[in-house]
Amino acid sequence: MAMNWFLGAIIGLLIYGFGLSIYRLWFHPLSKYPGPRLAALTRWYVAWYIYRGVFYRHVRDLHNQYGDVVRTGPDLIHFNSPATMVDIYGAQANVLKTDEFQVLNIAGSSTIFSAVKKNVHAFKRRTLLPLFNDRSLQPYSDRILRYIERYTSLLGQGTNLSNTSKGNWGPPIRLGEETFCLLYDITSDIALGQSLEMLTSPDWRFVPSLMLRISRRSGMGIAQPLLCKLGIGALMFVTSFAQMRSLVTHILHHVERRLSSSGTFTQKEMVSPMATAQDKNGFKYTTGDIASEITLLIFAGADTTASAMTNAYAYLLHHPSILSRLTDEIRSTFANVDEIRTGSKLTSCHLLYACLDETLRLMPVAANGSFRRVQRGGTKVGGDLIPAGTDISVSAYSLHRKASLFPSPDDFIPDRWLPGSENAVGRNGVPSDPHAFVPFSMGPRGCIGMKLSRMTMSIMLARVVFLYDLRWAPGPRCCHLKKPGQRCDELNKAYLFAHANEVKAQLRPRQT
Ligand code: HEM
Repeated sequence: MAMNWFLGAIIGLLIYGFGLSIYRLWFHPLSKYPGPRLAALTRWYVAWYIYRGVFYRHVRDLHNQYGDVVRTGPDLIHFNSPATMVDIYGAQANVLKTDEFQVLNIAGSSTIFSAVKKNVHAFKRRTLLPLFNDRSLQPYSDRILRYIERYTSLLGQGTNLSNTSKGNWGPPIRLGEETFCLLYDITSDIALGQSLEMLTSPDWRFVPSLMLRISRRSGMGIAQPLLCKLGIGALMFVTSFAQMRSLVTHILHHVERRLSSSGTFTQKEMVSPMATAQDKNGFKYTTGDIASEITLLIFAGADTTASAMTNAYAYLLHHPSILSRLTDEIRSTFANVDEIRTGSKLTSCHLLYACLDETLRLMPVAANGSFRRVQRGGTKVGGDLIPAGTDISVSAYSLHRKASLFPSPDDFIPDRWLPGSENAVGRNGVPSDPHAFVPFSMGPRGCIGMKLSRMTMSIMLARVVFLYDLRWAPGPRCCHLKKPGQRCDELNKAYLFAHANEVKAQLRPRQT
């Protein structure tokens, strides 16, 4: 009898699966869009590619095969043009972040990044945005410089900095790891008023690898909602639970301490505006909400900027002639390292910013594209009315590597960003369409930390090349690990965010 029930259930499931497949392939409102058949059948398709960290490359291949509009899931479409960026991420789009972003809630609290409802997100963004404008960032710059000085002097250990005439190459360094530690130190200091001190102490050095696991789990959870519904997402996180708890407890402890100092904030940190914010509906942050928001800001600020910087080092080491021109630019602009700080001298270093932009073009952090769910009434994308319930996205990686927007799209050509250069894109080095280059996304959910990260990256890179010559460390590196026909930057993995490969390098004090 039990056997009959079991068989009946199996047959029922098979019939349901068969019927659903027929519907999704031929009768679904999205069935008119091209794409792989398997992708149209199940979201596990995307989840599998994200699990392997290669979805960003696959989306680009799909666009090359099927065109600018591709059905990448039963209810998921990727677009690939600057105009659709505006349609999907602009303020007028009838979309919300997908509910699955709540997989990124921390200790049960939503954050500016994970909030789905417009009013909740708007309150959080209104509270935090003023902290990231030019005037507010000014007081942070001295604190950032302190950490960068520590970083450059740690990088120089073993290179005999005092012997500038005949400096030897120092020991091999994991440049990526040190850069991640620097960025976590800076963002924790700015956000919490208390640095994790990862450059000088091993205690929190596990945080970047914890973030990598969170990024993988959340990237998959957002791609395949069933993962969260069935609790598989939580299982994937079991091994990270203790580390996450100790980090959040540490942050909560400091937030409580700051709040109990009866509102007298001695340093300008991000806890303060959250402590006093209140909207017209009476919404306020609890202490737990503030701790969650700070944790998010540390992750969102440190990991992204560190990945971008590590990639910049890798591209420059692959292109010694560009590294040498950049070095000349910096060394001829500044008389000593202390001069390298925010200001007109730094912004006059056009090649510096061109190298950073070209890095972010080739390897944008949100490489897979961030999903938006179409709301009731549908929304127009590229002239088509996309029905409610559909998830839509643009992969910045695919867009940035479109040959019609950026000629020789796979090549590292910082000159394309330089006004007047023969490789310049559009007029004056700026792409003719401002939405062709979107490493920080755009619109109401675009990055709030863009200025902060550009300030940090430009000072860091300028100081490193001012002080040191750089070269690859001996031994296997990306060029030896890649498969035939693969480019080195294709070894990067992208989950929720893209994560840079380690760069093993050697430094020596500048010779000129
Ligand atoms: C190179 C560095 C960075 C890159 C490439 C980057 C990129 C992005 C992108 C693409 C988004 C949109 C994500 C989405 O739509 O799902 C985003 C959002 C965000 N970023 Fe960044 N980011 C960087 C640095 C920072 C920094 C330094 C901070 C702050 C400390 C920061 C804080 C945030 C926050 C809070 C959001 C969510 C904004 C919202 O939903 O209103 N980011 N970032």
